[in-house]
Amino acid sequence: MGTREREIYDIVGIGFGPSNLSLAIALEEHQENASGRPVTAAFFERQPEFGWHRNMLLPQATMQISFLKDLATFRNPLSKYSFVSYLHDSNRLVQFVNNQDFFPTRQEFHQYLQWAEAGFKDRVSYNSEVTEVRVVDEESAGEGQHLEVEVRDTVGGGTRVVKARNVTVSTGLVPRMPEGMERDERVWHSSEFLAKFATVRPEELKSVAVVGAGQSAAEITKYLHDMLPGAQVSAILPSYGYSVADDTPFANQVFDPNAVDHYYFGTEKTRDAFWRYHKNTNYSVVDDDVIRELFRRSYEEEVAGAQRLHFLNLTRVKEVKRSGDDTRVVLHSLLDGETEQEMDVDALVFATGYSTMDPTGLLGDLDRFCLRDTEGRHQVERDYRVVTTPELSCGIYLQGGTEHTHGLTSSLLSNIAVRSGEIADSLVERRGAGAKV
Ligand code: FDA
Ligand code: NAP
Repeated sequence: MGTREREIYDIVGIGFGPSNLSLAIALEEHQENASGRPVTAAFFERQPEFGWHRNMLLPQATMQISFLKDLATFRNPLSKYSFVSYLHDSNRLVQFVNNQDFFPTRQEFHQYLQWAEAGFKDRVSYNSEVTEVRVVDEESAGEGQHLEVEVRDTVGGGTRVVKARNVTVSTGLVPRMPEGMERDERVWHSSEFLAKFATVRPEELKSVAVVGAGQSAAEITKYLHDMLPGAQVSAILPSYGYSVADDTPFANQVFDPNAVDHYYFGTEKTRDAFWRYHKNTNYSVVDDDVIRELFRRSYEEEVAGAQRLHFLNLTRVKEVKRSGDDTRVVLHSLLDGETEQEMDVDALVFATGYSTMDPTGLLGDLDRFCLRDTEGRHQVERDYRVVTTPELSCGIYLQGGTEHTHGLTSSLLSNIAVRSGEIADSLVERRGAGAKV
């Protein structure tokens, strides 16, 4: 039997990754807090503790954004939750500057996120998976319309129902396997890489392969090459080699806060141009230094006459045949469109990317109030609130899953400080306008 709480929060956050952590900070720093009318918030996270793509915290992997694009600085440069503040608190600010690098390691950024999260433990419940959101109209009880958020305890198994005037769905990207491919103890997706790698003794891995030509694939290929000095490491690339992620200054402007307005208020043609010209800033691309490092290693092996790093260009996986610990990969070459080759591996990693966040499942029956565009995607207001029919006065905010309305930054960190400030403002303004936020 689940427990039911009395308080109606102004907002309940589903997931506690960087997006909702940034929102928690924006709410704490909002002037409404100083006026004594804080927006009340509770957050629910299914992981046992804070963690940001932990299975990809590979040594030396660096951030793909400047350290100044942290949880708060672009919204509030004076925030005590900035990366600079974290460095100062860790007594590393001077050395960080001496290091002269805009791009910290992912491990250091993870430490920063944990440091910031420590200030919000009273508002977050871990081991808590949100399974459903529904609407309740209880005029008789004087509570008015509100949402009920059902939360499952992932350890004890019980459920708890929490009430809210608004929810923010911030559940992140969803790992994507190619159609027909299943994960198991020897076939992994990159999102589970380090945990799965830790389950196998390295000496059992004589031949491994990584599928994909994005950042995850390149980083994992490099890591396997480092960690398995006796193994054959094959990179199965759908392209004719890795392509570089464009992070040059003009192109980087697509991640600016202003670009969200250009995208949102632009025409279909505007939006199409953003994707057509600038997809290579983020998708199926790899940082320059990682590409050069992999090529250098391969060339050195060629010179030494001992090649164990292999790049299979223009190749896709057609089938995976599994039997015990044996894995046979059927490869289809796009070089002639015909050749099929079979390769035996001890582990196969699909670094085949992620699908965008889709709140449909979580919203369940509530989704019938949500308006969709002609392509069936949620309509979303500029303040990241889903457009709903007038019967629903409660708000559903999205952090993620808004590529079609707000552009390339939707699933990224680049704009989260500004976005969470906009959501905090929206909550306060709509409350001021009489809506029971
Ligand atoms: P994120 O996925 O981080 O968090 C969502 C949280 O919700 C998770 O903790 C999850 O457990 C939880 N959750 C999901 N469903 C739930 C439910 N039903 N109930 C409760 N909790 C639930 N971007 C960038 O700009 N710069 C970068 O350097 C990188 N680097 C990077 C590395 C790797 C390996 C990946 C895969 C991605 C990136 N990204 C990135 C993009 C990435 O989307 C971004 O860094 C953040 O993770 C986005 O933060 P969110 O909080 O939106 O999602
Ligand atoms: P991604 O960029 O979407 O790349 C996925 C790759 O898999 C693409 O090359 C894709 O090829 C390929 N692929 C998909 N289906 C395939 C199939 N059936 N057969 C063969 N190849 C297939 O995914 P990602 O590398 O995981 O990156 C996702 C996000 O995480 C990006 O934003 C990235 O920047 C970020 N990331 C950041 C870091 C870091 O900060 N250091 C590390 C890793 C990831 P097609 O192009 O043909 O589809």
